Amino acid sequence: MIIKPTAGDDNILVVDDEPSVRDIVCRGLILHGYSCSTAGSSQEALSTMKTKTPAVVISDINMPGQSGFWLLQQVKKQMPDTSVIMLTAIDETQSAVNCLTHGADDYIVKPINLKELALAVARVLEKRNLLLENKAYQRNLEALVEERTHDLNRALQQLKDSYDMTLQALVAGLDAREHETGNHSQRVSMYTVLLSKAMGMNGKSLPHIAKGALLHDIGKLGISDKILLKPAKLTASEWKLMRRHPEIGYNILKRVDFLFPALDIVLHHHERYTGGGYPSDLKGEDIPISARIFMVIDAFDTMTTDRPYRKAMPFEKAFKEIDRCNGKQFDPEVVKIFMGIPASEWHNIRQFTVMR
Ligand SMILES: [Fe+2]
Ligand SMILES: [Fe+2]
Repeated sequence: MIIKPTAGDDNILVVDDEPSVRDIVCRGLILHGYSCSTAGSSQEALSTMKTKTPAVVISDINMPGQSGFWLLQQVKKQMPDTSVIMLTAIDETQSAVNCLTHGADDYIVKPINLKELALAVARVLEKRNLLLENKAYQRNLEALVEERTHDLNRALQQLKDSYDMTLQALVAGLDAREHETGNHSQRVSMYTVLLSKAMGMNGKSLPHIAKGALLHDIGKLGISDKILLKPAKLTASEWKLMRRHPEIGYNILKRVDFLFPALDIVLHHHERYTGGGYPSDLKGEDIPISARIFMVIDAFDTMTTDRPYRKAMPFEKAFKEIDRCNGKQFDPEVVKIFMGIPASEWHNIRQFTVMR
């Protein structure tokens, strides 16, 4: 356990087994304006320090019982903010040097010259005050950095939330334009995250997958109402224009750095597992996994949502339909995991997005 020095005073503890030495040193220090207490052994010093931690310990080296060297080690371990000056006989200078290498701040050779001792104490206290100021500065700095980091994270979260809300508003507008019932994009985004988690996709990729699913048809902004809302079958040339929406979406979003990882779904959500899809006619695992997952979800939600010209299909029928397209339009591995998810989980998301 580390004990902090008693605040606000420069009290000094003198440790020596010789009462006369303790007395001389203590009187000398008091004359120089310091408050001073004494201990006759290392053990006594240590127990005194636990109630009142001194700024400086002045300790003899050779004492009966535990030595001054032992006391030095205890002080440095338990009270690192307390300075230690060793008192040493003329023939003990080697042990004094040893003490310096173990954290002592200075040493004084006996017989004691009180003026010299007072100067050593003043020096040690000055160094100690600088160290304490430095530590306090460091602590303040750390607290300030922590506070600023917290503020920054909160601001980033607010920024992220407003980005997300802006994107949701954008796709809600798109959904409202195309479908009578809204929230298709919001719903497929949540469905896609559910299936991606079940597929064991990395947690870090999930927000990108969610955004890709949310924005999958953003390219339809570039398709005219005449084609997009046409109640009859599209002509071949209209289909050609309609099939451009993944690339239009890609071109809209590719300039936005934070949406870049979401582009796989936007560009490839109309590929087919066995080929023949658009825009790149990719096959099998050449189609990015997020797009292969999304293709199942988009079809599932389209089938289970009312359209002006037909009623929504019940979930059970949609599951059968997806199974029928397994290995043709859809990746069999994705379909297998999709089928393993309880229907109640799809219902919960559907309920949530329909109510919004
Ligand atoms: Fe699409
Ligand atoms: Fe869609």
